[in-house]
Amino acid sequence: MDVDALEAAAAATLPPHVYDYFRATAGGPEVAERSTSAWSAFLHRPHVLQDTERIDTGTTVLGTPVTTPVLVAPMAQQVAADPLGERATAAAAAAAGSLIGISTNTAVPFAEVAAAGAPWWFQLYIFKDRPISEQLVDRAVEHGASAIILTVDITGLRHPSPEANYAVDPTDWPLSPAADRLVNLDPDLRERARGEGGWFARDFGFRAIEWLRERTGLPVVVKGVLRGDDARRAVDAGASAVLVSTHGARAFATSVPSARALAEVADAVGTDVEVYVDSGLRSGIDVATALALGARAVFLGRPVMWGLATGGEAGVRNVLERVHQELVTAMDLLGAPTLADLTQDLVVPA
Ligand SMILES: Cc1cc2nc3c(=O)[nH]c(=O)nc-3n(C[C@H](O)[C@H](O)[C@H](O)COP(=O)(O)O)c2cc1C
Repeated sequence: MDVDALEAAAAATLPPHVYDYFRATAGGPEVAERSTSAWSAFLHRPHVLQDTERIDTGTTVLGTPVTTPVLVAPMAQQVAADPLGERATAAAAAAAGSLIGISTNTAVPFAEVAAAGAPWWFQLYIFKDRPISEQLVDRAVEHGASAIILTVDITGLRHPSPEANYAVDPTDWPLSPAADRLVNLDPDLRERARGEGGWFARDFGFRAIEWLRERTGLPVVVKGVLRGDDARRAVDAGASAVLVSTHGARAFATSVPSARALAEVADAVGTDVEVYVDSGLRSGIDVATALALGARAVFLGRPVMWGLATGGEAGVRNVLERVHQELVTAMDLLGAPTLADLTQDLVVPA
């Protein structure tokens, strides 16, 4: 799949400020380039003479069965790409046998996300005003979220690039203010989210993992981990999974790309918990590399957004199916008929 062509098609249909928000990184174009090209910095050592008559891409993520390890990353503001927003993305995920992460900043009611039929995990930012986060996770549980993704890589200001300025004041986003997007909150809390209380907290530390587990009874995925030692601490603090991520190069312009951090994290946690990865993955070959480096599943961000902007539900479905099909081809050529056959020895630095 030519993701650049899909992005160009999305750019041609979206209002410029919306496209800018979606493609923004924490720096200039070189930051996006570093995120994606890091996946091409690996080559493969294929096996021959394996029985690949049948390729099986099925697995489970925190106990939820999926028929593909290509999952959908939580992304805010999807209604700006298509009026149906996450209703369409979730329906496409359901059709593809995938799973979707739903952003704290979704503008779609959880009941409507759930009605689309895909398994879903709720992505949480912890607000300064704690009752806002509490009500969001309580509602997510009520509507069938099966895990909490705790995002920990956006705590303060990012690189001060003009494109990324949306991060500076969450009450003044270019696309929609808090009151319009936090639809899963009662009106009084939504109003509080427009003020100082709507800023992300920075003081919660690793203890937030246990707090969330206890409050929700759900497994907690820690998103934004880039170091083995932090991954270990997250696991010791009660995390059920870690998601290696640079937030699609949106968090910190000079952080290492996910592709370079993944093996260290996977080695640090071993088989104690599940490891996922996102940021910069653009093809089924990238997915095969990620799984070989130790990820159990991957999340796609912008390719899904470009599919949504250009074709709604069918557009997202097309992206998921094509990346999935590329993965199947890569597994065939690697001599790896199941996901368990995708092991680190299949990958070397280019
Ligand atoms: C437009 C947009 C909005 C996003 N919103 C969120 C969010 O609300 N919460 C979150 O944890 N990550 C968010 N992310 C980051 C994604 O979950 C994911 O980490 C990233 O998009 C993966 O990189 P990729 O876009 O290169 O595939 C957002 C990314 C984009 C592009």
